[in-house]
Amino acid sequence: MLSILVYRSRLSRPLAQDELSNLVDKAAKRNQENGVSGILLFDGEHFFQYIEGPDKALKATYEHIRSDPLHHHVVTLLSDYAPSARFSNWAMQLIDARDHSSSIVEPISAGLTTPLPSHDRALKLIKAFASGRWKDHTTDFVTQNWQFETRASGFETLAEPINSILPCQFALQPIVDPLRYTISSVEALIRSATGGPPYTCFENLPAAEHHLFDLESKRNALELASRLNIGDCKLSINLLPMSLVSIPNAVDQLLANIEKFGLTPQQVIVEVTEEEAISHFDHFELALKKLRSVGISVAIDDFGAGFAGLSLLAKFQPEKLKIDRLLVTDIHQDGPKQAIVKAIVECCKSLGITTIAEGIETPEEWLWLQAAGVELFQGFLFAKPLINGIPAVSWPILTK
Ligand SMILES: Cc1cc2nc3c(=O)[nH]c(=O)nc-3n(C[C@H](O)[C@H](O)[C@H](O)COP(=O)(O)O)c2cc1C
Repeated sequence: MLSILVYRSRLSRPLAQDELSNLVDKAAKRNQENGVSGILLFDGEHFFQYIEGPDKALKATYEHIRSDPLHHHVVTLLSDYAPSARFSNWAMQLIDARDHSSSIVEPISAGLTTPLPSHDRALKLIKAFASGRWKDHTTDFVTQNWQFETRASGFETLAEPINSILPCQFALQPIVDPLRYTISSVEALIRSATGGPPYTCFENLPAAEHHLFDLESKRNALELASRLNIGDCKLSINLLPMSLVSIPNAVDQLLANIEKFGLTPQQVIVEVTEEEAISHFDHFELALKKLRSVGISVAIDDFGAGFAGLSLLAKFQPEKLKIDRLLVTDIHQDGPKQAIVKAIVECCKSLGITTIAEGIETPEEWLWLQAAGVELFQGFLFAKPLINGIPAVSWPILTK
């Protein structure tokens, strides 16, 4: 099977012309041996390469290219299959994009063995690179300039779990603004009585009791927040929309517990997953009205994991939107994820919605998303959830 791959990258140090010619000669020789062909566009600062070849050989070539320290911020833009090679006469052809910014089609068509239709995605990407249209500031960050320093959260930790009749407890995980060194809110994540993952809390319950348990368990989360003296820090809790609709006076019950534990509705955020909001939209809308009427704000959780996020946003705009970890993982290397997240951030900016990225595990993911305009972050990079307590946070410090 013939695979094609397109990536762009950024030069990591100044490069002499003969060094570049040398690199291309070596690349061409190796590609020829491996049955790989393609083109390399260069604009003085960035590379853009189209390579094609047998699946295995192409993967190995890409790994080799990625490991070259001459460039960094290597972002995969397209990984696909094609019926035949397009540039089989060119093991590797260097084209200076600056000489062809008005029309890149001419120099590349000289090497084409199969013509590219104008709607071809690779061709569109090539044209976008040559015109400079793709450029953005998100590759300006330098990971090495940041160090992480762990500081206690400043909140108390419980020595003993909350004594409750409900067989569950909560782990708290901060959602942070890393550049202001502030904890925006803490999310209460449900755990079983023995610390097991969320599904173990529900697996032995009859389905008819899920919603009641879902709602009542939040009492423990609120009591925990109160016992930890969270002050005016916000608390995020997860709720199924159906729990707020099917249980009579659910919102009143929630409100009563918020007050009982000395919190205010304004500091509570109810997170509802995109999937639940869409699949039970009528229930969700009703629940929403009730929550908003008492001053509780709403966040859409796992945005981008489902199938209908944008149509949901057209109907309802939450205060906060959490970008799903599926879109976050390795975003600094993934062109399609970058394009989607940029569009989400842009859309949220226009609608006045705060964006949160969840599942951040590496400095690269955080720095890319921060540069793209995401406001708040949650993930192991900053803090892991802590059962019955608020963990210390690992804050980024700029060293250069
Ligand atoms: C922008 C760029 C494009 C590259 N393209 C290819 C390529 O198409 N095929 C290949 O085998 N290596 C490619 N390389 C890797 C270099 O050809 C080569 O491995 C590197 O200069 C080190 O050479 P050496 O390992 O033989 O010393 C590329 C490297 C860079 C920075």
